[in-house]
Amino acid sequence: NAAHAAPQPTFSFDEIAHGADVNHHVAPGYQADILIRWGDPVTADAPPFDPHQQTPESQEKQFGYNNDYVGYLPLPLGSDNASHGLLFINHEYTNEELMFPGLGRQDTFGGGDFSGMTQALIDIEMSAHGGSILEVKKENGKWQVVRDSPYNRRITTRTTEMRLSGPAAGDALMKTSADPTGTQVMGMLNNCAGGVTPWGTVLSGEENIRGYFWTEGDSKAVAAPYKRYGIPGKWYAWGKFHDRFDIDKEPNECNRFGYIVEVDPYDPNSVPIKRTALGRCAHEGADVVVNADGRVVAYTGDDARFEYLYKFVSNGRFDPNNREANRDLLDDGTLYAARFNDDGTVTWLPLVHGHGPLTAEKGFRSQAEVLIHTRQAADALGATPMDRPEDVEVNPKTGKVYVMLTNNSKRKPEQVDLANPRANNVFGHIVELTPPNGDHAATDCKWEILIKAGDPRVPEVGAQYNELTSANGWFASPDNCAIDHQGRLWVGTDQGPNWGKTGTTDGVYAVETEGELRGLSKLFYRVPVGAEICGPEFTPDDKTLFIAVQHPAADGAKNFKGFERASTFEDPATRWPDFDDRMPARPSVVAITKKDGGVIGAA
Ligand code: FEO
Ligand code: CA
Ligand code: CA
Ligand code: CA
Repeated sequence: NAAHAAPQPTFSFDEIAHGADVNHHVAPGYQADILIRWGDPVTADAPPFDPHQQTPESQEKQFGYNNDYVGYLPLPLGSDNASHGLLFINHEYTNEELMFPGLGRQDTFGGGDFSGMTQALIDIEMSAHGGSILEVKKENGKWQVVRDSPYNRRITTRTTEMRLSGPAAGDALMKTSADPTGTQVMGMLNNCAGGVTPWGTVLSGEENIRGYFWTEGDSKAVAAPYKRYGIPGKWYAWGKFHDRFDIDKEPNECNRFGYIVEVDPYDPNSVPIKRTALGRCAHEGADVVVNADGRVVAYTGDDARFEYLYKFVSNGRFDPNNREANRDLLDDGTLYAARFNDDGTVTWLPLVHGHGPLTAEKGFRSQAEVLIHTRQAADALGATPMDRPEDVEVNPKTGKVYVMLTNNSKRKPEQVDLANPRANNVFGHIVELTPPNGDHAATDCKWEILIKAGDPRVPEVGAQYNELTSANGWFASPDNCAIDHQGRLWVGTDQGPNWGKTGTTDGVYAVETEGELRGLSKLFYRVPVGAEICGPEFTPDDKTLFIAVQHPAADGAKNFKGFERASTFEDPATRWPDFDDRMPARPSVVAITKKDGGVIGAA
């Protein structure tokens, strides 16, 4: 009888098992094909990849390192073509010991002394950062990069000129010796997640910019505005060879990074634009939704422990019939930081100069300074420190918003609140926001926890899932997510070296959000050892899921049974995806399709 009928899941696939090995795995009945790897040609004149003879010039033309965000943009612009389009891919960072022969951990950003880092290697790294734009086509069920496409393009930290725009552009804090106007900047840094706008551009988040800045002095003895951003982090030795990354030589260069960068992939000559109105922080990414009244709302997380969730609301309205009219929507509007109240509501606090404590007397001389010092402004307003806000996605079917809070091992018992309910939060959680009547521009909304991650069978973990979640379905450290065109939530994880605590590599999990099965999670795809899940991105027909497998062999190789040492170029924990002794492990983008050509996750 109907009252006792089992609830119907919205996902249909056979779950795979937790585990850790050298390969990736996808649910039975699916195909996971490598689309492009680090070093593969992007531009028509790219030389073949030779990891022993790499140069900055070749890397400028080849696919960069550590693919992260993947955005799919149909061709032609404005269509919903699901078998021909452009991919925009972020290249977040570099793992020197895995990229370059002869370097060990002691030479690299993993706490090293940088003794092996030459300017030639650093210039390769700067060219391996940034983004790639690729024309891709599905023929006979297989995706291919279109070689020699005029759309194919590399964006790099070393050579791609960008424009600063919005209220902070041209401010005194933005001026450097190379750019006395404070409006031009070379490249972008540590671009993590992102989003596609309704007008066919991509938003790419500059995340951990702090690691690129250098001082010969005491990193801890810097002025407060640097300290609040963890600058200089000295993860990379770029500042030894390039003065702009040395804060003693160019004190303002770091103010020109940490933004949402807007790129038009349909125009290969377009200049990427850093949209300062969306604030400066460790932007994980930005997800844009058009509000019912036509205003554009972008949600963005600041991924660091005890940082904040933000949203930007435009003043102008989206015009679906005039692409040019939408060009600068993200320059003019209001940025808000979230305060999570104990009554289950969020108050969105405006970062507006002259409003509340954001005055000259309190250290904010202008709106430009409010934005350049976004974190300090949100501190002053009393926003809620969160457990590392990563990807945020709006469900277009329900209007609900999903916030991945990846983990926070530094939260102490006395710092726990209802929205960040666990001390030493090793496994993270997912918060769901419900805007009132679907109004994303409103200054309040409701919040609720969807999942507290970790193993629900271990009581001390304090996990929370739907009770039907299997022994393989629970996960740790939600990071990137996607909502498919049917409104279903897919979560990718990034445990870092902590995967040793769960015994399973990172994966893509299908998560029910509605009805009796709400909070039910199932494992769909799992990465090779040492990697994390980035992307994930669906084509408009939901028949392809693109996934970026970042840093295979890198994280926690010492936890990998039988390997139990740090990975290097010569000796990585896996040689995925080539499994060729002449090739290192290579970050790669994977295209997942159903063997019968059907919709991913449907029967
Ligand atoms: Fe680059 Fe927050 O992950
Ligand atoms: Ca991420
Ligand atoms: Ca996403
Ligand atoms: Ca992460």
